[in-house]
Amino acid sequence: MKVTSISIKLMLVFLLLLSGCSTNKEHKKSQEQSPTKQKTFTLNSSRIQVNQYATINYLDYVSGNTDAIEYNTIDTSKLGTYEVTYSLEDTTTNSNQEAKTMIVDVVRTYENGIFNPTDLTPETITNPESITALVNKTHQIPSGWVPNDLVEVAGSSQQLRKEAAEAFEAFYQAAKNQGITCYIISGYRTNDAQALYWQRQVEIYGEEYASLYSAYPGRSEHQLGLAIDISNQLTGNRLTEQVANSDIGKFIVSDGYKYGFILRYPQDKINITNYGYEPWHMRYVGKETAEKIHQSTLTFEEYIEMNSVKKTV
Ligand code: DAL
Ligand code: ZN
Repeated sequence: MKVTSISIKLMLVFLLLLSGCSTNKEHKKSQEQSPTKQKTFTLNSSRIQVNQYATINYLDYVSGNTDAIEYNTIDTSKLGTYEVTYSLEDTTTNSNQEAKTMIVDVVRTYENGIFNPTDLTPETITNPESITALVNKTHQIPSGWVPNDLVEVAGSSQQLRKEAAEAFEAFYQAAKNQGITCYIISGYRTNDAQALYWQRQVEIYGEEYASLYSAYPGRSEHQLGLAIDISNQLTGNRLTEQVANSDIGKFIVSDGYKYGFILRYPQDKINITNYGYEPWHMRYVGKETAEKIHQSTLTFEEYIEMNSVKKTV
């Protein structure tokens, strides 16, 4: 009997302690959250392109606590690359608790949405040796960088980096086994070759056309040694949209990923890649990445963006 009453008392004390603990916890929690929750905002884009003379709605690019946000404005009458820095004042300390910068390229945008690469200052990539290096109108290869493992693709005078060349040879053989003919047009290009190519396009067709199908020197994947243009025909106008309707054009789309290649500039993604439809341009990214891109139907730009976001979370 005595033992039972002690047990009950002990239990009561235990319960009281438990409830005390939980009350303390609640109290602590509410103390942590007060006096005010820290204000914050999100920058929706790290870099944007706007047309010359455009009116920028600066708050369209941020979300969250935008009521007290401050930012600098830029003069869009002048072509070039600018920075807009957004900051949010912390009213409790009267200091700018947060500042985030968005790059704005003021460019000449043509009716098809393609912009002229000569107007902006691109970011220089730090990983040109990576098979997933992103090179485009806003990302350039470091000046003077050259791949150190170029080899000739079997049966061709064109070069690719060793890994890409071997993968391409496997792709070529698989096509051949199915009775599909494939002509290699253009692999690795030096910076000088790309400069000549760009200049020739500008001289013959003008800057708008050159911006649609040709990369400005330093910003071509061909300079990485990871891109190759192929065609169904050896003579005449070999790189046209006709490639898409040919057996090899279809084979790139259906099977390229199995060998680590993606069709880099698809027809329905011109607004993202900022290049015209190139059913002939294959980019080597490795089998794993190519398969993910193939399954997701993302562009390489979107894939890289998604993965860099994931890494920083
Ligand atoms: N035709 C692609 C964009 C290049 O010149 O690299
Ligand atoms: Zn190409």
